[in-house]
Amino acid sequence: MIRFDVTGGTPLRGTIAISGSKNAALPAMAAALLSDSVSRLTNVPDIRDVHALAEILRSIGAHVHQVDDHIWEISGQGVNTTDIDYLLGRRLRASILLLGPVLTRFGSIRLPHPGGCVIGKRPVGTHFEALRGLGATIEHTKEEGNDYYLGQAEAGLAGAHLYIDEVSVTATENAVMAAALAEGTTTIRPAAMEPHVVNLCEMLVSMGAKINGIGSHTLTIEGVENLQGVEHRIVSDEIETGTYAVAAAITNGELTLTNVPTDLEPILFKLRAMGVIAEQNGDTLTVRRGEELKGTRLQVDTWPRFPTDLQPQFGALMTQAKGKSFVHEWMYENRLKYTESLATMGADVTMLNPHQVVIYGPTPLEAATIDSPDLRSGIAFVLAALVADGVSHINYAELILRGYDSLLEKLTGVGAKIEQVEIVDSPAEATTK
Ligand code: EPU
Repeated sequence: MIRFDVTGGTPLRGTIAISGSKNAALPAMAAALLSDSVSRLTNVPDIRDVHALAEILRSIGAHVHQVDDHIWEISGQGVNTTDIDYLLGRRLRASILLLGPVLTRFGSIRLPHPGGCVIGKRPVGTHFEALRGLGATIEHTKEEGNDYYLGQAEAGLAGAHLYIDEVSVTATENAVMAAALAEGTTTIRPAAMEPHVVNLCEMLVSMGAKINGIGSHTLTIEGVENLQGVEHRIVSDEIETGTYAVAAAITNGELTLTNVPTDLEPILFKLRAMGVIAEQNGDTLTVRRGEELKGTRLQVDTWPRFPTDLQPQFGALMTQAKGKSFVHEWMYENRLKYTESLATMGADVTMLNPHQVVIYGPTPLEAATIDSPDLRSGIAFVLAALVADGVSHINYAELILRGYDSLLEKLTGVGAKIEQVEIVDSPAEATTK
């Protein structure tokens, strides 16, 4: 287990370079399987989830070469099995992203039920409906107590109109990747339009795919016979940007964030609503607190509304904002649980139900020892600990490292007091998260 020891009370000042987006890098790595020629991915974040997916790709024989910390070369050449190892697949939810590319390119897949952050039920039915719509068969099997999905599309996939009941990010990505090599035209509606979905579509287009409607809720894909490897830059991470923006505001410091993505609108809108001064100039964002932080009403939704992956970080900020804040997290049933831990630090939290919470502020926070249940709750605890009185211990911080590149270096570089402690032989370490 990894534990972060965070001493609160220092305003953060300085510059942080934002890394590539986790949720753009993972589908891009899967998309590289669609061609035998090599795709060179740049601005890839150096995070645990990227390494976990790379290990899965290697395990099926794909060409995977890490050029340096942030550049990877990947292709589908050498793939000799479509059987995804159970334990590797369980390590991350994004293993589901292999479904579309592997089925459309190689005609079959055996995929374990994906793992990942325990933030809610996170059904995978939407993915299967989309692939079935394109002509694949997908069956659920249980082998030695383990859940697998067996997909077949030996005769190839055929374009179709796909109505997707949930505006799911990864189901949209799977459907686009599958449709890129299917015969005929596919429409996906309503498609997710998060920046990472757009970034994937742009990569596919430069590989030779024909996609219309990129960045909208309707995508039209004209299948092509084959795709070529390309050089593709992973878009910068809007969630990491928002996280460090909160770090500046919550500690009453001032941060300049470089390499930020162009479109931060829903995030900047909410920061400003809370009294934060956030000035964007191209790929640079400067953030500091205004006169005072104000409570706000926040409802997560699909892009371009406020992203669920930033909700816990904003929840931490609300503890320092004047007045009442209200959060509605309808997507995930466990993604407000972190507020119970904030309450143990002194936050004034009233949970109305698993999806709605009221936070009153500002309240001084006291250091605490907290288990990190998932990536985004974990980083919210780090943010709260940065303003708490004393030294907080955040357990299972490896979950935070799934998604934040060089977190400790970036935070200590702007004055944060945070240390990483490796705890060996912890019996709890054996639990799968
Ligand atoms: N959902 C709905 N209706 C919708 C949209 C979603 O019911 O309109 C439900 C889905 O059924 C699912 C859940 O909400 O259970 C999440 O939706 P989605 O399927 O879009 O999630 P995902 O594709 O599995 C990606 C990100 C998540 C992020 C969500 C939502 C990747 C690899 N993962 O997951 O990222 O929370 O979209 O934006 O892209 C994270 O980075 O911490 C993370 C969990």
